[in-house]
Amino acid sequence: MTAIRARGRLIAVASGKGGVGKTFLAITLSHALARRGNAVLLFDADLGLANVDIQLGLMPDRDIGGVVEGRIGIDDAIIRHAGGFDILPGRSGSGSLATIGANALEDVLAQLRHLTQRYDAVVMDLGAGLDQHVRRMASFADLLAVIATDEPTSLTDAYAVLKLHGADGGRGEAMIVINQASTASAGERTHATLARACQAFLGRAPRLAGTVRRDDKVRDAIRRQTLLLERHPNTPAATDIERLADVFDRRVTPAAT
Ligand SMILES: Nc1ncnc2c1ncn2[C@@H]1O[C@H](COP(=O)(O)OP(=O)(O)OP(=O)(O)O)[C@@H](O)[C@H]1O
Ligand SMILES: [Mg+2]
Repeated sequence: MTAIRARGRLIAVASGKGGVGKTFLAITLSHALARRGNAVLLFDADLGLANVDIQLGLMPDRDIGGVVEGRIGIDDAIIRHAGGFDILPGRSGSGSLATIGANALEDVLAQLRHLTQRYDAVVMDLGAGLDQHVRRMASFADLLAVIATDEPTSLTDAYAVLKLHGADGGRGEAMIVINQASTASAGERTHATLARACQAFLGRAPRLAGTVRRDDKVRDAIRRQTLLLERHPNTPAATDIERLADVFDRRVTPAAT
């Protein structure tokens, strides 16, 4: 019997609030999923301000901008990273894509969906804020990872992401990742606070995918434009992300029946 490959999953990484660690987590999770044997595409979906290429020290000469403008095909913009995953870079240099029309976005999403025939996971690093494009990409994903820290503004914004995900008829499961936690149990408490509010006002409480501790080695890896799991594999944040990747890995590659 010929094995038919299951389609891969689109995973959106969102937070509402800026600067909580979306790009860092999207990159490191992509790396960890690739190391678990998955074919992974990381898409820099921050249409206002591309970040992935900067955190990784890449200078792509083609990016999603060319695809949106119809100058190149999506495959021509995809580059291979030495970490074992592929990257679809965001608009580098000047010229934001934040104002592309809804039809152009739908076209990109359809092409990403098509790419899940080739990739086990397509990870989308969304921009901060909750504009129409962010909402559409979050609701289009099969799995929504909402990143929050213990700061009240982050929790409020994460709650807003979850509320809109419900209002927009989001197709995928939403899960919470608490980043920059002082300890694992502090992260669990932060999740419990957010989950209580969701249960009370939205009637459902999203699960905790994992907690990632605050770790100076994260800043070091970013500053050196390297991958945390290669540069500092045994530090607290790296250990936590490996555990988080196991949770996502099970959702990307369901156990054989
Ligand atoms: N677990 C962590 N421990 C320590 N510092 C962290 C951790 N996660 C993120 N950071 C810090 O937070 C900064 C912001 O991270 P990042 O750029 O990934 O956030 P972002 O949510 O993508 O931001 P933006 O909304 O601007 O796109 C990083 O430069 C890093 O210094
Ligand atoms: Mg970012």
